[in-house]
Amino acid sequence: MIDKELIGPPGSPERALLDRLDLGRMPRHVAVIMDGNGRWAKQRRLPRVEGHRAGIASVRATVETAARLHLDALTLYAFSTENWKRPHLEVATLMTLLKEYVRRELATLLANDIRFRVIGRIDQLDSSVRKALQEALDATAHCKGLVFNIALSYSGRAELADAARRIAEEVAAGTLRPEDVGEDTLASRLYTAGLPDPDLLVRTSGEVRISNFLLWQIAYAEIYFTNTLWPDFRAMDFLEAIADFQKRERRFGLVTEPEPAVHRT
Ligand code: FPP
Repeated sequence: MIDKELIGPPGSPERALLDRLDLGRMPRHVAVIMDGNGRWAKQRRLPRVEGHRAGIASVRATVETAARLHLDALTLYAFSTENWKRPHLEVATLMTLLKEYVRRELATLLANDIRFRVIGRIDQLDSSVRKALQEALDATAHCKGLVFNIALSYSGRAELADAARRIAEEVAAGTLRPEDVGEDTLASRLYTAGLPDPDLLVRTSGEVRISNFLLWQIAYAEIYFTNTLWPDFRAMDFLEAIADFQKRERRFGLVTEPEPAVHRT
């Protein structure tokens, strides 16, 4: 049972929106492209990194809300393989923020039974970052609530290439037959193996692109774009995305309209 009090006390806008949601039709997995940190900082004449720093509060609010809504999984796109090309100071600050975040947030993750996971080319990260991530991975491995994935040094195409390479290796080793390779074979070799595909993909800041995120997994996801910049994103924005998701008719390629009656004369 969702404890609505934890998301919004009676009379709050969050509570009013939550009361309108169909709790039996919640997305199981929400993925988010966190965008607009740089613009948020620019609007305030601050350095770009201050936008990333402010974005941490949005990460915290989003993880908390996802856990309180009892979602199965939340995946946040924190750093793409392309992001390595940003100025050194920005990359270094993002890595420091990430380390600080996992260390500071660990107690909260544990208290909320949240299982932390990382997806992406983790070997490309600095050893001190990998160490901080590993501590959180190990400490939360037993947790049974929300699976919280952070995509780091992530590229959807690289993920598909990695899965294809693993399949090729298994075929070469004789442990997999080419005729047995199907969609499930590929899905089970993705970084997200075992998780439901995202039902809802949110992108902040008004950009209307997928940017190489979860290309395979979002095949049937509903996509929600909001103009809110990531550092301003809070529980209310999350609930609005879910309310919009619930208005959509998910057909998975099927038809739901009855066939028109054929009138014979
Ligand atoms: C996009 O904004 C955002 C990022 C590249 C990084 C997101 C990182 C965080 C919110 C902080 C660290 C994350 C965690 C999970 C602790 P942008 O810089 O591209 O914004 P712009 O398009 O306005 O320039």
